[in-house]
Amino acid sequence: MLHLNHRFNSKFIQSTVIQMPALEVKCAFKTYRSHNRQAFKAVDGVSLSIQRGQIYGLLGPNGAGKSTLIGMISGAIKPDPDTGGISIFGHSVLSEREKAKNLLGVVPQEVVVEPAFSVEEVLYYFSGMYGVPVRERGPRIKHALEALGLADKLKEKARFLSGGMKRRLMIAKAILHQPKLLILDEPTAGVDVELRQRIWELVRELNRAGTTIIFTTHYLEEAEQLCEAMTVINKGKVIKQGRVREIQQEFSQNLISFELFDRQVPHLEGVRAVGTEYEFVYTDLAEDMTRILAHYGNNLKTIHNESASLEKVFLELTKEGAIPQASGGTP
Ligand SMILES: Nc1ncnc2c1ncn2[C@@H]1O[C@H](COP(=O)(O)OP(=O)(O)O)[C@@H](O)[C@H]1O
Ligand SMILES: [Mg+2]
Repeated sequence: MLHLNHRFNSKFIQSTVIQMPALEVKCAFKTYRSHNRQAFKAVDGVSLSIQRGQIYGLLGPNGAGKSTLIGMISGAIKPDPDTGGISIFGHSVLSEREKAKNLLGVVPQEVVVEPAFSVEEVLYYFSGMYGVPVRERGPRIKHALEALGLADKLKEKARFLSGGMKRRLMIAKAILHQPKLLILDEPTAGVDVELRQRIWELVRELNRAGTTIIFTTHYLEEAEQLCEAMTVINKGKVIKQGRVREIQQEFSQNLISFELFDRQVPHLEGVRAVGTEYEFVYTDLAEDMTRILAHYGNNLKTIHNESASLEKVFLELTKEGAIPQASGGTP
């Protein structure tokens, strides 16, 4: 009887664990005070729920609050007391710090290496810090370096590595303890095309092996190519959250774009100027195209139809005066 009970319980626990988000941020706030003590909210009520197994994008322009949010998740930055809670696989980063920390790997935005030590020494030290058993350290270091194309740099002093190699070393440091959740803060900012591809490949590979991944980026192409879901933040607030495909669809307005020889003419209602071009959101392509052709006639230099790219969506969302969305949805 006891035995049966035990089996029932472990099954129950398993299914609870599976449903638990890899990361849950409930209404996080972070206020910075400048020297004149004026309060400034770098993170202003952000909520996120990231399901395990996802590759998740955190997007936003410079200064949006992405790194501050990551700092709060990693425990490096103390959230404001009115923050609802931050947990990693159900473990609070504040009250169960050690447990949460062991499940998490973070690659910070700033490249920091230990200049006097060799790549091997640095990685050996970090494996120890994260409690990797001694016997496993060598093989894990080897595997991480191979995955990052750094295998031949094992004995190299960290200070002699190029910028791109230092960045790869930072990633190696963060994956040695095989975290279940890996957060990369702008991993591809300022890296060359080849390294960017390599990092993408590594992200995909780690994800296939079961790691949930969150990364921040300025490159929308990355979010489109890699992520299942994303959150766009601006000025500390969530302005869009959901599955990438759905966000694309929601914003894929159907546009007719055209250029004119003479721009000093009366325009059709609904036509808006975008740089030297004009745009019109159509409902019926053939009908609206005909109207535009009839109205502008020989004045048309070029005309074509298109769907808005995520790039446009992003610009639209992060421009001055964009309306924040209520956050807290579960993508
Ligand atoms: N330690 C700090 N003290 C005061 N302001 C800060 C501090 N760290 C970041 N900020 C400010 O908070 C805002 C968000 O910064 P950050 O989280 O680094 O944005 P992102 O990573 O999205 O570029 C910015 O306006 C930045 O200047
Ligand atoms: Mg940042």
